[in-house]
Amino acid sequence: MSAHADSRARVTLATLAAKRSAREPIVMVTAYDHPSAQIVEAAGVDVVLVGDSAAMTVLGYDSTVPVTIDEMLMLTTAVRRGLRSPLLVGDLPFGSYEASDEIAIATAQRFVKEAGCDLVKIERGGTTVDRARALVQAGVPVVGHVGLTPQTATALGGYRAQGRTAEAALTVIDDALALQAAGCSMLVVEAVPSEVTAALMPLLDIPVIGIGAGADADGQVLVFHDLLGLYDGGAAKFVKRYADLRAAAITGVEAYVAEVRAGVYPAAEHGYGMPTGEAARLVELLAER
Ligand code: KIV
Repeated sequence: MSAHADSRARVTLATLAAKRSAREPIVMVTAYDHPSAQIVEAAGVDVVLVGDSAAMTVLGYDSTVPVTIDEMLMLTTAVRRGLRSPLLVGDLPFGSYEASDEIAIATAQRFVKEAGCDLVKIERGGTTVDRARALVQAGVPVVGHVGLTPQTATALGGYRAQGRTAEAALTVIDDALALQAAGCSMLVVEAVPSEVTAALMPLLDIPVIGIGAGADADGQVLVFHDLLGLYDGGAAKFVKRYADLRAAAITGVEAYVAEVRAGVYPAAEHGYGMPTGEAARLVELLAER
């Protein structure tokens, strides 16, 4: 862990509230394992989300739907071990919280107790508002998620922007208000027109983190693999690539492949030697057999 990270204060919900009041943008990013956690820690982000986007970026599923609680817990625990300063948000996977308050509380408690999450994120308005209220009452801080909610993308007509008509925008806004009233500490708003975010912001007191929701939110979140160009899939319109690590990684592995095949790697400096005389003694010992 870098000295920079060691010297940073731990981010708390109070830190985020202060940033919001000071109109200082909050930076959230996803991470899915120990090295990515160490990278985002060293880069100084405020909040780390172990998103169920891991289903696609890390586990190779076609959508976020199939990922299990145990898969998410394993990834989240690895991220926890790589973080010190940022807040850690665990994403409750599809099917792990919707059916009842009791199920939601049991799942969320695993993310807090076993993976060390500071908050858990759940998607949608509707019955999720009741789950959010129950979680908050059980002492688990909650991040709501409105707009495009990938766990139920099929019901929303696919991975597409939400709230594009005034009526549809009202639904997004009503979901957000209901989640705030249920006690959510933070809100993710995904893939809505910037006008909708602009209309929403004066109505909310909690930090709002946008992804494809324009510049008016209190902060932004991007998927680690998207922003670093690590993912070999189509990127959404709102993704900005800040690096092309996939190309760099392929170039690196290709160079390794070429050097092994050409007998260039390993060179003498990559190997171990025996102390003086030991190689000759080994020859003698083998000859005595
Ligand atoms: O799963 C995820 O990574 C998310 C973010 C895109 C907000 O929910």
